[in-house]
Amino acid sequence: MQLEIQSTVPMMTDRPLRVLLFGKDGRTDAIAEGIRSSAMSCELSICAPFASPGLAAKADHFASASLTDLEAMVRLTRQSRADLVVVGPEDPLAAGLSDAVAALGVACFGPTQELARVETSKSWTRSLLDRHGIDGNPRHQAFRHARGLWEYLNELGAVVVKPDGLTGGKGVKVQGEQLASHEEALAYGLALLEADGSVVIEERLDGEEFSLQTITDGEAFVHCPIAQDHKRAFEGDTGPNTGGMGSYSCPDGSLPFLSDADVSAARLINEAVVHSLGREVGQPYRGVLYGGFMATAGGVALIEYNARFGDPEAMNVLPLMSGGLLELLWATAQGRLGAVDVAFSPRATVCKYVVPDAYPDEGGAGAPIATDESLLGPDLRCYWASAELADDLTVRMTGSRAVAFVGIGSTTAEAERLAERGASSVVGAVRHRRDIGTSGALARRVDHLARLRGAPSPTAAPRHA
Ligand code: AMP
Ligand code: GLY
Repeated sequence: MQLEIQSTVPMMTDRPLRVLLFGKDGRTDAIAEGIRSSAMSCELSICAPFASPGLAAKADHFASASLTDLEAMVRLTRQSRADLVVVGPEDPLAAGLSDAVAALGVACFGPTQELARVETSKSWTRSLLDRHGIDGNPRHQAFRHARGLWEYLNELGAVVVKPDGLTGGKGVKVQGEQLASHEEALAYGLALLEADGSVVIEERLDGEEFSLQTITDGEAFVHCPIAQDHKRAFEGDTGPNTGGMGSYSCPDGSLPFLSDADVSAARLINEAVVHSLGREVGQPYRGVLYGGFMATAGGVALIEYNARFGDPEAMNVLPLMSGGLLELLWATAQGRLGAVDVAFSPRATVCKYVVPDAYPDEGGAGAPIATDESLLGPDLRCYWASAELADDLTVRMTGSRAVAFVGIGSTTAEAERLAERGASSVVGAVRHRRDIGTSGALARRVDHLARLRGAPSPTAAPRHA
């Protein structure tokens, strides 16, 4: 199952394609690896706010700029004479980089600012689904003032309180977890209203979360294998929410607790959202739509959308796409995705992020970290994130998730052993979650959803593990 690129995709025969990649995280390092291992020849420039050891090693030209500084990013696009701009994280999209790149006549993998509202405004996305009759919304309401807030909290029962804009996955508070009562939910809601002028209140759902990343040019769709992130900081899914501590995927591209109907429902929702975005905004969505879903007793519900690959979930799917990530990105940015045949190797992956001891609180910036490169190979990959190559040639953390290890195997158990070996070999004031991808953790998730769905609790190991 290799990625096959059909000959209808135009190739530059006279010179290598000039590619400019923006990002700073493990996801962007995995994109850079995929571009580098593509058959199509390219000259790769990478722009990041600090000298990530992974990105610096993969770039032909490395530039440093803030990923929120639109002017600097546009200047760099001009200077590099890029044919293709690829955007890793959300900040450049939110700043309007895709629009500015298009105005220069350069192809961009990543949607325009207005299309990226699917990530940057939770209230807009909920109402988009409502307006177009797309399934998946829990009960929800956006508030711009305090009137009716208390009554709505009581009407919903258990609630979730969300900031409307970007928060790096850390601003959402769930009743029963970060919120003990309706009084606390009200206080948090009022604080968000005061700070941002809006707040989203949702019914709290119970189930198992999963991520479906769909690559699209607005017409054609490539659904990546489904992955499950672990947002909580500590083992057993305890502690505060983080940007994501690690994730896993299974050889069949689904997860052990999902039915075929769940997978089809999530795919249909992503496709319907891309079509309705195109109709409303009048521009094709070219990039990745990341759907964060929850499988519940009542079917599949949408938790959130992101307008880019998931971090960590990009690291689960991109290593399985062999042969031609660059051809895929280039075709998508040109609206020719339908001409590309894509397949993912039927293997399991487990990704574990190694983070500073204090994470998700501040701390760890400047502390040294060292990995054992001799462990790495095709089945154990290492992707750098918040770490930089210092002048003294040591690698120092910059204060957030530092480095990720991805194990690839014929079973999740094998992939987990490899990822664990990589993550536990790191020397520094760091920690990681040992439970991600273990058979015990998978069995608990299968049991949880089976209980909610009223099925007899499976006692055997999950069928995919
Ligand atoms: P978000 O930033 O919207 O992905 O929310 C962060 C986390 O909060 C999600 O990964 C879920 O674990 C949780 N969450 C968000 N919305 C809901 C909901 N409606 N019901 C239950 N949990 C939720
Ligand atoms: N894994 C969550 C995110 O990428 O936002």
